[in-house]
Amino acid sequence: MTDDLTNRAVEARRALAQALTGTGDLTDPDWRRAFEEVPRHVFVPYFYAPSGERISANDPATQEQWFTAVHEDRSLVTHRTDGAATSSSSQPSLMATMLEALTVVDGLNVLEIGAGTGYNAALLAHRLGDDHVATVDIAEDITGPARERLATAGYRPTVITGDGCLLGFCGRQGPGQIPQLRIDRSFDPLVVGSSPTRSTTRPRPGRVFRAGAAFRAWVILYVS
Ligand SMILES: C[S@@+](CC[C@H](N)C(=O)[O-])C[C@H]1O[C@@H](n2cnc3c(N)ncnc32)[C@H](O)[C@@H]1O
Repeated sequence: MTDDLTNRAVEARRALAQALTGTGDLTDPDWRRAFEEVPRHVFVPYFYAPSGERISANDPATQEQWFTAVHEDRSLVTHRTDGAATSSSSQPSLMATMLEALTVVDGLNVLEIGAGTGYNAALLAHRLGDDHVATVDIAEDITGPARERLATAGYRPTVITGDGCLLGFCGRQGPGQIPQLRIDRSFDPLVVGSSPTRSTTRPRPGRVFRAGAAFRAWVILYVS
């Protein structure tokens, strides 16, 4: 990425954080700083348009479209399996709402189920520190790149390849086989679909939520 693009990204993140503040999705100054400083573009070097077209930073024909999209309040499909979307970078406003609903304080440990790109884990690591964040995803071809992009952006939370359902909140299996976590609180995840419309789902601390299966994409954060 050129210096010019890096500088533009700084400005674009500020603008997005400002917009999320304006809509009331981002109210906490610590989280605002995280959104301003964690580079989403590093975690989403490409995504798939609804048509299936790959929109990539490395393709001069799509670079500008890519840059604009990764700095907008949009969920972006980042992984497809047999033509179906299987992972995404969640919509920033939903992430902001979700993160603020965690009501974190220094020293809390957060486990995220559904690492995806690693961007949300980076926001958590920015706020809480690497040692306080773990993130799980079911497939190595998702956790591998997430781990690399986290390192590129300067974050090293624990990234685990595993089935979050082993924790027992998917309506099957469980209870907890993924690392030695003492779960004190859990809260609603947010359904992240490929639809650009805003979800009306709002997380409520203390209740476990199971998202619809349509996108096989649910995000649960457990606070231990
Ligand atoms: C919406 S994406 C995560 C978005 C990510 N938190 C972000 O903001 O960049 C949901 C993720 O959940 C993962 N997933 C689905 N089922 C899972 C399971 N049983 N255990 C762990 N991860 C799972 C998918 O592979 C997908 O990457």
